[in-house]
Amino acid sequence: MSDLPKITVISRDGVTSTLEQSAGQATLMQLLFENDQGVEAACGGCASCATCHVYIAEEWVSRLPPREQVEDLLLTYSDHFDSGRSRLSCQISMTSELNGLVLEIAPEE
Ligand code: FES
Repeated sequence: MSDLPKITVISRDGVTSTLEQSAGQATLMQLLFENDQGVEAACGGCASCATCHVYIAEEWVSRLPPREQVEDLLLTYSDHFDSGRSRLSCQISMTSELNGLVLEIAPEE
């Protein structure tokens, strides 16, 4: 049985899917991008575009490492910023601790 983390994703259309990490997907953004979840990831993951914006389910927010300053700054400029739940998925590393994570793709900017 695989011990790679599985993530539940709610798309912009409200469709729920379960995605499992594949080899080479080091960040949450890569997992979402490669599974066609509408995450553009225009900057390639260097925290400068906010097109990988997601909302983390409330019960998971405190279980993730907090936002770094650069992530915080970019998100605050986003039209859809939610101070509690917003994250840049490119700044979240895929680890086994993410197993069961639930998130929603934020609206496009
Ligand atoms: S991919 Fe550009 S900020 Fe995350």
